[in-house]
Amino acid sequence: MAEWDRVWVGARIAAMVAGAEPYGKVAADALAVKGERIAWIGAASEALRRTAEQGIPIERCEGLWIMPGLIDCHTHLVYGGNRVEEFEKRLCGVSYEEIARAGGGIQSTVRATREADTETLAAVAAVRAKRLMAEGVTTIEVKSGYGLDLATERRMLEAARALEHELPVSIKTTYLGLHALPGEYRDDRQRFVAQVSGPWLESLAAAGLVDAVDAFCENIAFTLDETETFLAAAKKLGLRAHVHAGQLSDMGAAELAARYGALSADHLEYLDERGAKALRASGTVAVLLPGAYYTLRQATPPPVAMLRAAGVPMAVSTDANPGTSPCNSILLILNMACTLFGLTPDEAVAGATRHAARALGLQEEIGTLEVGKRADFALWRIESPAELCYNLGVNPCVGVVHRGRARH
Ligand code: NIG
Ligand code: FE
Repeated sequence: MAEWDRVWVGARIAAMVAGAEPYGKVAADALAVKGERIAWIGAASEALRRTAEQGIPIERCEGLWIMPGLIDCHTHLVYGGNRVEEFEKRLCGVSYEEIARAGGGIQSTVRATREADTETLAAVAAVRAKRLMAEGVTTIEVKSGYGLDLATERRMLEAARALEHELPVSIKTTYLGLHALPGEYRDDRQRFVAQVSGPWLESLAAAGLVDAVDAFCENIAFTLDETETFLAAAKKLGLRAHVHAGQLSDMGAAELAARYGALSADHLEYLDERGAKALRASGTVAVLLPGAYYTLRQATPPPVAMLRAAGVPMAVSTDANPGTSPCNSILLILNMACTLFGLTPDEAVAGATRHAARALGLQEEIGTLEVGKRADFALWRIESPAELCYNLGVNPCVGVVHRGRARH
């Protein structure tokens, strides 16, 4: 039997492994795949010798860059309706908080999502997922959180899982139990938090629909104590967490996330040094979401220099959602991470590969090109990896391999 299934030769390879070389560039120009795994990385001359002997199929890359498949580690891809009217209101000076407090915002997407059937939810999510995939994305995290009742949360998670069966992409599902307080619990917050943290979480987890949990810890959403109740319940079930932390104010949510060993703390426009140090100590990834920062026209970017100095890994993601980041382009987000937040292109690309993998607990599987890792990679017609960040509205992706198989 041939030792490889297929080999790509004549490429430039940015493995995104941490080290001295920018973008983890390796002195090799060929990569071979066996099954779902990267089997070998080395010189084209050696690859050609072995392929000739064994009749292995060859892809000639002619200088294309091969880089790890991009990972979008924070999305709300499944939802009904859109929020274009809210966009118009915000442009007239009404704030996101005001809209939320008046029953719009997340609540209006909850109404539209409850009304949509599961097939429709899956179909609109697939359209959005395909846009990401066209830009080299091979793994997407998808949150629930627009159902806020058990039945709709379940349907959202099922629709997210369905993407993986319909499309050549890997999906991680997150139960965003605490996103907003639904109208029917207006007078009973405690009971809602108890339902989410008790029977609803147990039921969704038992159905195998929950890879991790998430909570929106914010003055317009849930308190530290409420968030902690949920995180504690998840921990008992052995589930890791993400936390929407410090998007509009610093309530200490990043420290709470760190205390629970969360996979990630996300947004972090409002974060002090204690929070950054706590994230570093717990190995929690800071997920930066420039699309939401841009859409809300926020004035305070996340403290990137502080995170860098503290040694906190920084991921970047679209936060694709109808309210604060109606964006299905990871490449645009890479540009914004540099232009708006001051990441270097190397940091931004690491943020959508190596660090995004860690934010999903998948660092042993994906996010870098190494022998034994999953063969998820994209081929780019560019002269340098920084071009993934430099261009605006340009997609130089010319091929994607997911689990060892070329997408068509
Ligand atoms: O990540 N912050 C909370 N959740 C989303 C926004 C959801 C919405 O406005 O629909 C976010 O920005
Ligand atoms: Fe979000």
